[in-house]
Amino acid sequence: MSYQSLYDAALQDPQSFWAQQANQIAWFHTPPTALTRDEEGLYRWFKGGKMNTCYLAVDYHVEQGRGNQVAFIYDSPVTNTKKQYTYKQLQHEVARFAGVLHRLEVKKGDRVLIYMPMMPEVAFAMLACARLGAVHSVVFGGFAANELAIRVDDATPKVILMASGGIEIDKIIPYKPIVDKALTLSKHQPNHVVVLQRPFVLAQMQEGRDLDWNTMLYKIRKHPCVEVDATDPLYILYTSGTTGKPKGIIRDNGGHAVALKFSMKNIFGVDAGDVYWAASDVGWVVGHSYIVYGPLIQGCTSIIYEGKPIRTPDAGAFWRVLSEYKVKTFFTAPTAIRAIKKEDSEGLLLKQYDLSHFQYQFLAGERCDVATLEWLSNLLQRPVIDHWWQTESGWPMLANMVGVELLPIKPGSAGKCVPTYDVQILDENNEVLDANQEGAVAIKLPLPPGALPTLWNDTQRFIDSYLTAYPGYYFTGDGGYKDEEGYVYITGRIDDVINVAGHRLSTAAMEEVVAGHPAVAECAVIGIEEDLKGQVPVGFVVLKGGVDISEAQLEKELIQMVRGHIGAVAAFRRAVVAKRLPKTRSGKILRKIMRAMTDGKSFSPPSTIEDITVLDELNELMREHKIGVAFS
Ligand code: COA
Ligand code: AMP
Repeated sequence: MSYQSLYDAALQDPQSFWAQQANQIAWFHTPPTALTRDEEGLYRWFKGGKMNTCYLAVDYHVEQGRGNQVAFIYDSPVTNTKKQYTYKQLQHEVARFAGVLHRLEVKKGDRVLIYMPMMPEVAFAMLACARLGAVHSVVFGGFAANELAIRVDDATPKVILMASGGIEIDKIIPYKPIVDKALTLSKHQPNHVVVLQRPFVLAQMQEGRDLDWNTMLYKIRKHPCVEVDATDPLYILYTSGTTGKPKGIIRDNGGHAVALKFSMKNIFGVDAGDVYWAASDVGWVVGHSYIVYGPLIQGCTSIIYEGKPIRTPDAGAFWRVLSEYKVKTFFTAPTAIRAIKKEDSEGLLLKQYDLSHFQYQFLAGERCDVATLEWLSNLLQRPVIDHWWQTESGWPMLANMVGVELLPIKPGSAGKCVPTYDVQILDENNEVLDANQEGAVAIKLPLPPGALPTLWNDTQRFIDSYLTAYPGYYFTGDGGYKDEEGYVYITGRIDDVINVAGHRLSTAAMEEVVAGHPAVAECAVIGIEEDLKGQVPVGFVVLKGGVDISEAQLEKELIQMVRGHIGAVAAFRRAVVAKRLPKTRSGKILRKIMRAMTDGKSFSPPSTIEDITVLDELNELMREHKIGVAFS
């Protein structure tokens, strides 16, 4: 079947389409209906279907005779470790760890927070939660104590699971001080913190609360899979929104499993037994969907890579892994490719490896510039596919579905709509724009299975943030346009979210921190384009009257504050002092105009602007500090 006929048929009757796809997974009880609406009017897929995601990802394959196939390959250049786990071994590990959680009285619906780097135990922990019907919330290791505390208070976990530390290239990051500090900041306290001690960094244990991971496993009884409803939450994953408070994206069990299974075959072109690798981190949605759940549900071999694209040990690291494990489909972020290109612009390191099994290269997580896509396509001589999605969707919304039909690749476009995403470009009056006209990227409701049903403990915020601006649609936060052939081009966020090295961050959260400096009267943090990371934040700061601090000292202190509150991953490394910021007469900072100025895009100042001459001042400041595409 061609892509177009598949897409058209699916969109004509999404319920039948997804009911059919639901037959691809092993339910304990088949769902009586595909799509329903709950008491708040929100869409829910497969309500009444009974299942267990861990069963689908692990036990099912053992029952089907795949027990001896490798489920996970752990490759850690930073610790010099390589290990493999078959599905049978994975079942053993996961069932035992579920036993540990059970002993700690974790039950269906309880939350478990996980703060760990890329190691197999993080996947065991996630799957063990799924096995019990407990809801995991994995927090990316690059976030600081304050961000962790916010998530602890929102998710109120019964237990925290952590490792004593991680390694960033050659730098040891001890995790325990971060968790301990977070728990002094949070109101909520977990009953226990279970610590996996790693040999290179020993965590100090707090008696009574902290438990040793390996000691807990001693003589533990394995725990079977618990039956959950399709609409029960599998996990909460916090992502940056337009305020300092992250959004708790909920993923349900049933829709998620059906959508991921569909995507593995139809988008990524892999079958059971194939090796699939997403070089991301379990702290991000890519790690949830395409390191852990998707590949396992499809019966693939997945790779847990604890390393970087460069310097572990060199820019050939990715090619080494692709070759060594015979990867068929590979997924990474454009930033990683730009980092490789910077170090090995001729791709000489690639020539050392046999990549004969490697078929498809997928890129996502941030906008992929044409130069990077073309450089990689020339180097690999294989399809390089940009595709687009977000934490909220949980799986791709736009792609080139190689498992169905490889369409011509148009550099700059993230592809065409995936069934049954109906991606439209809207103007501010909720009207669909003509081809090639740029507007807000929105999706006609209902969203397909797998996409978020709501936000954790905050349905009102879900409605306000996503469903209100464009009635009848889900608003993605991105801008873009569609060409005459239905290819969509994502041009970037049109809200206060930025994307730094494929990491989604909130400028509002950074502004909260910067505004907390005693010298700062007001500030705006804007994402500006950067060669390697795509975007980086820059703070524009107005000082309080009478304050005596040098710009360099202030910048140093602000950088430390953002690192301390949000984390190194924010990559906040620049702050400049402005006399004033552009504002409306009612005092609202015109960040959109500042973004347009730094991006070198045209804009028309609103009639409500307080004083238009501030724009000339700002332009001069950007020129002086070489900020923005026009001046860098
Ligand atoms: N734990 C602790 N700290 C972390 C971290 C983690 N998991 N991840 C990143 N950091 C830290 C880094 O050590 C760095 O700290 P520093 O300021 O002290 O040097 C900081 O956060 C910024 O990290 P990063 O954005 O990764 O930049 P980098 O310059 O260290 O590395 C790349 C550049 C390109 C190699 C790296 O950004 C990369 O691999 N990017 C691809 C990311 C990706 O795959 N994203 C996809 C998500 S779907
Ligand atoms: P996250 O929720 O962290 O996955 O980030 C999602 C955001 O990243 C999207 O809303 C986009 O702004 C951006 N993004 C992801 N993939 C792409 C892509 N292929 N092209 C352009 N932007 C992308």
